[in-house]
Amino acid sequence: MTDAAGRGQPTEGSPQAAPSLSLEKSPQPPAEGPVLRFESVRKSFGRRHVVLREVSLDVPAHTVTALIGASGSGKSTLLRCANLLEEIDDGAIHLDGVEITDLRTDADAVRRRIGVVFQAYNLFPHMTVLENITLAPRRVLRLPRDEAEERAHTLLARLGLADKASEYPDRLSGGQQQRAAIVRALALRPRLLLLDEITAALDPELVGEVLTVVRDLKADGMTMVLATHEMTFARTVADQVCFLHDGVVLERGTPEQVFGAPRQERTRQFLRRVTEAGRL
Ligand SMILES: Nc1ncnc2c1ncn2[C@@H]1O[C@H](COP(=O)(O)OP(=O)(O)OP(=O)(O)O)[C@@H](O)[C@H]1O
Ligand SMILES: [Mg+2]
Repeated sequence: MTDAAGRGQPTEGSPQAAPSLSLEKSPQPPAEGPVLRFESVRKSFGRRHVVLREVSLDVPAHTVTALIGASGSGKSTLLRCANLLEEIDDGAIHLDGVEITDLRTDADAVRRRIGVVFQAYNLFPHMTVLENITLAPRRVLRLPRDEAEERAHTLLARLGLADKASEYPDRLSGGQQQRAAIVRALALRPRLLLLDEITAALDPELVGEVLTVVRDLKADGMTMVLATHEMTFARTVADQVCFLHDGVVLERGTPEQVFGAPRQERTRQFLRRVTEAGRL
């Protein structure tokens, strides 16, 4: 799925070649630096509620970064900041070496390059799966209908939903809806995917099929950042695991290191609680 994985240089006519944001004039070629870089990011809600105090983090190309941490530790906020759904107070976020938190940035151009899938799949109920998936490519990328549909059918087949194109979302299982939401994000051929608790609303027996999709995307080279309470998932799919606590990335390392030999007492406490809750 090389096309969906966003590998390689942008080609003319691809979403990466969108003219507005000066991403093409990146000071460093995309392949060399991290795809996404958080640099001393600060974010508060109101005057006193500091959620991200000082978050610095690099997401290298074709890797999976898992954000873990207690409820309220800021995982979703960090993802929302990367997609410019939240404005940061200080610091910077870079996409392929270009600062996207610069006020002059065209937020829509950034969002075209960053696919997002949230816990609630948010498919439009009055549209078929195919219509849901082709909507943004047609409206945002201005793809002709047949091209958008061809792209959608290819992705649906890859994610095991070939026979669901003309169904309405409520005729799909939760796992199928979530996979359709992933297809919708992939249809814009994003540079990276942000996945926020994409299995949280699913029955346990449906979790596996969504996780398989994430593993397959990783094998295809897609760069992903995911927030999850599924520690087993983080452990098996992530290249790096970041433990958010008190507004910082308190611990970062390979899954083996963070889960197997956590350095920080806070990380150990968190993992103990998770283990007691049967999630590790
Ligand atoms: N729009 C908002 N306005 C005010 N406070 C907010 C807003 N969004 C998030 N917060 C607060 O920021 C903190 C971090 O929330 P966030 O949703 O990022 O946590 P999380 O780590 O994703 O938690 P969970 O694991 O439960 O999803 C919480 O205390 C939350 O109440
Ligand atoms: Mg969250």
